[in-house]
Amino acid sequence: LLAGPDGRPLTGRTAVVTAGPTFEPIDPVRGLTNRSSGKQGYAVAAALAELGAEVTLISGPVALDAPVGVTRVWVEAATEMKAAVEARLNSDRGTDIAVMSAAVADWRVDGIASGKIKKKPGGPPSLALIENPDILAGVSAPGPRRPKLVVGFAAETSDLETNARAKLSRKGCDWIVGNDVSGEVFGSDGNAVTLFTRNGAEPWPRQSKTEVARKLAHRIADHFKA
Ligand code: CTP
Ligand code: CA
Repeated sequence: LLAGPDGRPLTGRTAVVTAGPTFEPIDPVRGLTNRSSGKQGYAVAAALAELGAEVTLISGPVALDAPVGVTRVWVEAATEMKAAVEARLNSDRGTDIAVMSAAVADWRVDGIASGKIKKKPGGPPSLALIENPDILAGVSAPGPRRPKLVVGFAAETSDLETNARAKLSRKGCDWIVGNDVSGEVFGSDGNAVTLFTRNGAEPWPRQSKTEVARKLAHRIADHFKA
């Protein structure tokens, strides 16, 4: 009754997970990026697959192997990540679960140079930036293709609760995993997060990124049971 045919709670469910940074080109040899090892998002993809979900992992450039049983799609720029997410959402199967853990660059370069920009005596070039589309907000928008459960992440260096709650309502997602990044997070294996839902806030004890992912996957499975 509460599990799929093979006894795993997410068997028959589809999931899309974004992970890693995006890379926004300046010219053919340079770019802007965000700090993200991809470890937390990859662990979420692995944990959802362990529970039986059919997982598509949309990944920016990282040095990680794809988790067993997960379909990985490589992307670089945020606009590519958005297109890959939309392709998954528009596929026939529909999407039950979306977990947007990528560290998406907020801006891209307006007018990417087609050739390498050379150093000149007059000093450095200026870069004009334009804002990237908000992939999470797009996924969360009401409509027939909206996943049943949309989870975002919020990495904050201060005022975690206020900022996470603001993101929850601004983006229209269902849950936010709030992450205090004022300490040791980037590239490390440990993570202290708070799960913000519409009904409350659950601080989770500091644990490994694998444990955070497994706990989140179990919370997601419980959500679909209810
Ligand atoms: N996100 C996204 N697309 C963007 C920016 C962010 O999908 N262009 C997603 C991230 O994957 C994450 C969530 O939105 O799940 C929050 O990202 P964050 O950078 O914390 O939020 P911003 O709205 O960009 O706010 P700011 O960087 O100013 O704090
Ligand atoms: Ca941002």
